[in-house]
Amino acid sequence: MRSERGIPPTSPAVNVEALHGHLNGKHRLSPLETPVKVLGINALFHDPAAALVLDGRTVAAAEEERFTRRKHGHRPVPFAAWELPEQAARWCLAEAGLEVTDLDAVTYSYDVGLARPAADLGLHDPWDHLRQTYAREAPGFLATALPGLDPAQVRFVPHHVAHAASSALAAPYVGDDEPVDVLVLDGRGECASHLAGTYHHGRLTVHHTQELPHSLGLLYEDLTDHLGFLRSSDEYKVMAMASYGEPRFLDELRRRVRAGEDGGFVTERIDWQTLAKRVEPGQEWSREHADLAASVQTRLEEVLLDLARWLRARTGNRRLTLAGGVALNCVANTVLHEDSGYDEVWVQPAAGDAGTSLGGALHAAAQAGDALVPMAGADLGRRWTEEEIERQLRTARVPYDRPDDIAAAAAECLAADGVVAWFQGRSEFGPRALGHRSLLAHPGRRENLERLNDVKGREQFRPVAPMVLLDRASGIFSRGPLPSPYMLFVHDVAPPVA
Ligand SMILES: [Fe+2]
Repeated sequence: MRSERGIPPTSPAVNVEALHGHLNGKHRLSPLETPVKVLGINALFHDPAAALVLDGRTVAAAEEERFTRRKHGHRPVPFAAWELPEQAARWCLAEAGLEVTDLDAVTYSYDVGLARPAADLGLHDPWDHLRQTYAREAPGFLATALPGLDPAQVRFVPHHVAHAASSALAAPYVGDDEPVDVLVLDGRGECASHLAGTYHHGRLTVHHTQELPHSLGLLYEDLTDHLGFLRSSDEYKVMAMASYGEPRFLDELRRRVRAGEDGGFVTERIDWQTLAKRVEPGQEWSREHADLAASVQTRLEEVLLDLARWLRARTGNRRLTLAGGVALNCVANTVLHEDSGYDEVWVQPAAGDAGTSLGGALHAAAQAGDALVPMAGADLGRRWTEEEIERQLRTARVPYDRPDDIAAAAAECLAADGVVAWFQGRSEFGPRALGHRSLLAHPGRRENLERLNDVKGREQFRPVAPMVLLDRASGIFSRGPLPSPYMLFVHDVAPPVA
């Protein structure tokens, strides 16, 4: 969706009031008998996904792409809104040995009751009305996809509340007495692109939201598109490219993109073409494109710092959780960790829209009164037994053996400069390969970066991540929070090693 920015923001109080109405008033989820079994669904914008929360514990979560093998579930075009995470939802239930009729609720991470026509929000999005229609009819569609489901069990959760819950209610400190702040930033929800709030004992207080068309996520999407990448999909490539450029367009970005005194921000329309020529299909990137990426990345970090500092000054809390697609920007996350004033910053590994499936379910469980259990790890997806793997290898006639010591065998292969495809346990929830479905290579050989990018069919400016033993990490890395298991922060290599 393209936005026409530059119009003044509408009163954020309208949205804050509406959200509080949802959380505490007539739209509040009706009481459920605890403990509850909740299936969370994300379907509307990007990355259709399903998650299952039983008795306050996250037991399964997966994106539909893991089953369809279609990245992001679908192409990010308007008509794609029809795609439900049918296979992921059925798998979640099967994984827990549940039938649809065992569920107490199904959450849908978009509340059509909060939405307003795109034109009223200053967005040029001619198909948005189809999206709204689809969302309104989602309970019926879900009942068709999951036979036995009563459409009345489907509960709409505001998009940014689902994002907020996906982080703050999954964090290691959920259940602590101490309140925790949450900052949500994405392309868009129903009518906002940002939420600043605080969770305490499972209840969210919203301090501020930024209404559309102002959106840091859409700003980054616009740049992604201008640089010849796929909008709503390839933003991480822009972040990688930024590290190769100089932010020489920063003055212009500072004029156009600004944080306000009230915890919100303004994103005025940017004429990208005057800064760097649009990259058409087949064209190469040049220095000016990397400089433009670096300028937007730097300005994003500056504005995020302003927003986080505003929230910290308002609440005085020590802990910050982040969610929304912008929270996948690991470079910005480290800046927030270092300079925002918060002692701790935590990001849930599926920070993008997939995570709203989990957040919706956690929100319902918290409102029902369940005690929530912190997320144990990103390995919440599908698992394969030894027998299943062996059957596949035989069918494909792939030679195989079973080393007595798998770690020693892998280390030997790496030392001999081999590439190891490491497949272990359940697949990761979220976009990053975190040691469950990862390619490994010797980090001591510089040429292995190019080699891995070739193996993966990626652009050569794309980075890879180091993996080290936890008790060695603080001696090797000098910046960013440790442990850092989700590839959501960047770290400097400490002087003795660098
Ligand atoms: Fe989102």
